Amino acid sequence: MNTKNQTDTKRSSFTGKIGFVLAAAGSAVGLGNIWRFPYLAAQYGGGIFLLVYIILAVTFGFSLMVAETAIGRKTNLSAIGAFQALDKRFSWVGYLASAVPIIILPYYSVIGGWVMKYIFGFVAGEGSQMADSNFFPNYTSTTAEPLIWFFEFIAITSVIVFFGVEKGIEKVSKIMMPILIFLILFIVIYALLTMENALDGVIYYIKPDFSKFSIMTVVAAMGQMFYSMSLSMGIMITFGSYMKKDIDISKSVHQIELFDTGIAFLSGLLIVPAVFAFSGGDESALGQGPGLMFVTLPKIFNTMPAGNVIGSVFFIMVFFAALTSAISLMETVVSIFMDKAKLNRKLSCIVVFASSLLLGIPSSLGFSVWSKVKILGLQFLDLFDFISNNIMMPVAAFATCIFVGYFIKPKAIIDEVSVNGKFKEEKLFSTVIRFIAPICIVTILVSSILNVFGIIKI
Ligand code: TRP
Repeated sequence: MNTKNQTDTKRSSFTGKIGFVLAAAGSAVGLGNIWRFPYLAAQYGGGIFLLVYIILAVTFGFSLMVAETAIGRKTNLSAIGAFQALDKRFSWVGYLASAVPIIILPYYSVIGGWVMKYIFGFVAGEGSQMADSNFFPNYTSTTAEPLIWFFEFIAITSVIVFFGVEKGIEKVSKIMMPILIFLILFIVIYALLTMENALDGVIYYIKPDFSKFSIMTVVAAMGQMFYSMSLSMGIMITFGSYMKKDIDISKSVHQIELFDTGIAFLSGLLIVPAVFAFSGGDESALGQGPGLMFVTLPKIFNTMPAGNVIGSVFFIMVFFAALTSAISLMETVVSIFMDKAKLNRKLSCIVVFASSLLLGIPSSLGFSVWSKVKILGLQFLDLFDFISNNIMMPVAAFATCIFVGYFIKPKAIIDEVSVNGKFKEEKLFSTVIRFIAPICIVTILVSSILNVFGIIKI
């Protein structure tokens, strides 16, 4: 993926619909689906979170993804240039959206480092040690090792981006993604059939309990939706700009959504019931946060014959999903530096590598020596996650909605989408972009900020 500047007339393009859908799905499917979605679902009420998430994804997420893709295809530019070209007053939205990956990449790589540690653990046959509930907290509270793995993850990402082998990424995704789906399915079925108490967990995960609903459920689900669908950070605008005119935008977006939500759903179906099974139905085990995947999955693998092999293969898949996403994130940041700071590719890579390293260190140390340091009640990793997903992305999304709804008008997008056939969800699109989404975002943004500052409790 390459963000080219405005003077570049030879823009690369996807070969066809499949190319676009797979590339977008490859960027969408990552740690967000396998690591982040399940722990949020567990924490925010299970079924009710799932329901809110799906409603948001098919209305709001759909509309925003269509809008971003169409803006990209219409202008043939990436985020900063696209907003600038359409209306100078909205250039800042392009900048804001582009700043998001700068914040996400470092902490994403810290988690990527944890995944690598687990691969090596399983390969070395230490599955049963990792199945111990204390293994993960003990591991992350050490200082050096997580930092080394983080360093390796960001180094691998940087080397790939440095040499610019984006073409290879598409190939890797094409092979890895189907294997990942197959493996998750297999493990879900195996786990559900063999675990005790699994049914309680499945019910918790699937059946909405409205008493567990709070505005925080919506805040968390919305943040997750932006993150998982890679919205409000300019990515889909760039992808749209690589898209040919004869591809049906709305159909492609439906497919990307299905792919993305499907993998998230399956990961939750694996992890949430496992928490029930291994905690004997104790719901308090659900609130573990970022460590959830790393604590429960090894337990499942430990019950399987050849658990070490399955664990290794599974974490290798997770690693590839994370790596392809990290590469897209880094590529975006690198291309911004190339365009705006006029650095060459290599220098730009080095700058991004160094800054990610610096920003990632606090996220990693936040679990060990700096675990007492809390800003707004959050440790570093959660803080970066919160600022990007729950503040910057909603602001960028709000501005995009206002921009599309009241400045260029929904018709501009609808026309672009209708270039090849009817845009069936035209009405839904206009209503969401003009009214529902902006109102929702403002309510949510304000309440989540008040909540963090302790002014209200939601
Ligand atoms: N969507 C990715 C995931 O679910 C993470 C992500 C966020 C991302 N923004 C991105 C990936 C931009 C690539 C590009 O893990």
